[in-house]
Amino acid sequence: MKILAIETSCDETAAAVVEDGRKVLSSTVASQIDEHIKYGGVVPEIASRMHSECITAIVRAALYKAELTLTDIDAIAVTFAPGLIGALLVGVNYAKGLSYSSGLPLIPVHHLRAHIAANYISSPDLKPPFLALVVSGGHSHLVEVKDYTEFKILGRTRDDAAGEALDKTARAMGFPYPGGANMDKSCKDGNPNAFALPRPHVEGSPLDFSFSGLKTAVLNIINNANQKGEKINYEDLGASVMARVADCLVENTLGAAKLSGLKEIVLAGGVAANSVLRNKITKMCSENNFELFIPPLSLCGDNAAMIGSQGFYEFLAGKKADLNLNAFATMDIDF
Ligand code: KG4
Ligand code: ZN
Repeated sequence: MKILAIETSCDETAAAVVEDGRKVLSSTVASQIDEHIKYGGVVPEIASRMHSECITAIVRAALYKAELTLTDIDAIAVTFAPGLIGALLVGVNYAKGLSYSSGLPLIPVHHLRAHIAANYISSPDLKPPFLALVVSGGHSHLVEVKDYTEFKILGRTRDDAAGEALDKTARAMGFPYPGGANMDKSCKDGNPNAFALPRPHVEGSPLDFSFSGLKTAVLNIINNANQKGEKINYEDLGASVMARVADCLVENTLGAAKLSGLKEIVLAGGVAANSVLRNKITKMCSENNFELFIPPLSLCGDNAAMIGSQGFYEFLAGKKADLNLNAFATMDIDF
């Protein structure tokens, strides 16, 4: 079964053709970074307009690269939640139009489910059940993936997502947008123990995360130094922040694995590209004899191949949408 997949939840316009949920026939991504970099973050209105401008070309490019036409496609999958509402609506409405004109079934896909599904592409033998750590710009979840379309949230952030904390501290340190990725690139040789940063816990909920206190502590360090006219070694501060965020994520993942008894662990989402997190979770999994699945960097950030993969399993589970499909800025993964 060949699925044409569309993703427009944030600042990447993406389309892909995926066969049977696992084989990527083509994947095209148009990044808007060059535009949003001027503002230090994603400007939702600009994101929507840019999606509108390039979605037709991106979908055509995905079909062209797969050497297919719409008549070879069996279904259309689209991200409908969560994300920037105006951005999501561009993809959803485009997919609805395409479904209406072609008569092809329309499959609604949850963005975070799709981040997990990126691992089905890179690890063809991976099957649920497993434990997933999903870390993106807007979400930090520990999820028991019971089946391809059955999820149970074991832990979640109470405030900022991991990516958000990295992006905001990176911005305060002067790293350009996207902050998390640029901090990772620039702080590889920094000393991760140079700054004593708090290790946040959520009292009574050991699998939940909280990153806003850590973010505030870093902003205070920067403000205090600025007031005193002192210089900060941002390479060390960045390395310290990334180490502390990764420690929180990895410790809770270990806790969730012990509690659930799951021995297969999947990393997913944009922050899965972080080199410190990748190293720390690899070490933890090898020390505890867990099997770890990490997508290649090309499948960590937003892309449509992962939408096509999850879309296949949603279709098998009978999840189809009609032309009333709407987009939603927030929606739990276990909706
Ligand atoms: O999944 P994603 O591409 O978009 C959302 O669904 O939010 O995740 C974006 C997040 C941003 O916070 C970005 O800074 C972060 O992933 N990110 C990274 C790295 N690459 C992307 N954070 C740390 N290190 C990286 N290498
Ligand atoms: Zn994402």
